[in-house]
Amino acid sequence: MASFPKPRPDPGDSAVAASLLEWFDARRRDDVAWRGERDPYAILVAEVMAQQTRVETAAPYHRRFMDRFPDVRTLAEAEEDEVLGLWEGLGYYARARNLRRAARRVVSEYGGRIPRAVSELRTLPGVGPYTAGAVASVAYGLPEPAVDGNARRVLSRLGDLETASPSELDRAARNLLGAAPDRPGDVNQALMDLGSAVCTPRGPRCGACPLSNRCQALRRGTVGQRPARKRRARSPERVEAAAVVRRGGRVLVLRRPSDGLLGGLWDFPSVRLSSTTTTAAALTSALLERYGLDCRVGEEIRVLSHTFSHFRLRLAVHGARWRSGEVAQRRPHRWVGAGEFGDLAFPAYLRRLIDEDVSPR
Ligand code: ADE
Repeated sequence: MASFPKPRPDPGDSAVAASLLEWFDARRRDDVAWRGERDPYAILVAEVMAQQTRVETAAPYHRRFMDRFPDVRTLAEAEEDEVLGLWEGLGYYARARNLRRAARRVVSEYGGRIPRAVSELRTLPGVGPYTAGAVASVAYGLPEPAVDGNARRVLSRLGDLETASPSELDRAARNLLGAAPDRPGDVNQALMDLGSAVCTPRGPRCGACPLSNRCQALRRGTVGQRPARKRRARSPERVEAAAVVRRGGRVLVLRRPSDGLLGGLWDFPSVRLSSTTTTAAALTSALLERYGLDCRVGEEIRVLSHTFSHFRLRLAVHGARWRSGEVAQRRPHRWVGAGEFGDLAFPAYLRRLIDEDVSPR
């Protein structure tokens, strides 16, 4: 049988990998709280938290989460509400629900062990190519790419990749991983660290970069254009009104459906506004028709704004007094007293309203 020589790493890739790792050993970020962690579960939790959140923001959440759910079985058995409570403030709550579902799957299908293969990791809820690659490489030492936004920028500039398509990035990352087969997790993390500390979007410090003598974009003067920016249309605005309905000393809150935006969190009755009615009139009829409550809607308390990934919310919050009726809604609801607000998970953008206007501490 014919035998083929093993592919040998390109000398250019070997030099880049060596410089990159030397830099990483001396100058790696020291605020990635889970560095040095070997437990695949802890790494999975960390990488899910870091998907849409800065590493330094995620760090204290990771610590608290690991204190409360130290292993995959504890998380699998936890109530969704408690998991969401620990996630409050991190945003993108689908990540928390998916992580709990992933833990349940790991227990039921993998005997409680986080799988090693990317193809298996990818079947877990909320685990995409980045997270699967990060767990496989950092936790299990497998040569799998994990290209986040920072690594994408480094690789695009290094190879002067005009489009930086997923397949081009995958190839570039695999070449580097192939050149340092004993340290795949470090190669991936070094690319991320270099992107966040040196090869920054604006004002990159090419003079301090260990890869500058191999950087194609630097040589060709295209650093500022790499990676090409995706043009994003300004996201649409959604205007809604919410009512803080009081009945005796209690306030009405409802739980959002678990499969949608901010799923499983609690909030106040609300209505989407059109320009044809006043806010108070729209709330009065929505409370009656949609929630079954006759209420006297009062003054505006405050207007909140929050930017979601695909729209901007403007929410006018009004006070309201319950007059009659019982809540007729499939969504679970509660009338909560002062001091009980801390027991429920609310979207972070409602917290100030709750703490200052609804249930001051
Ligand atoms: N961002 C998300 N995960 C990271 C990691 N492990 N190292 C550096 N930056 C990261």
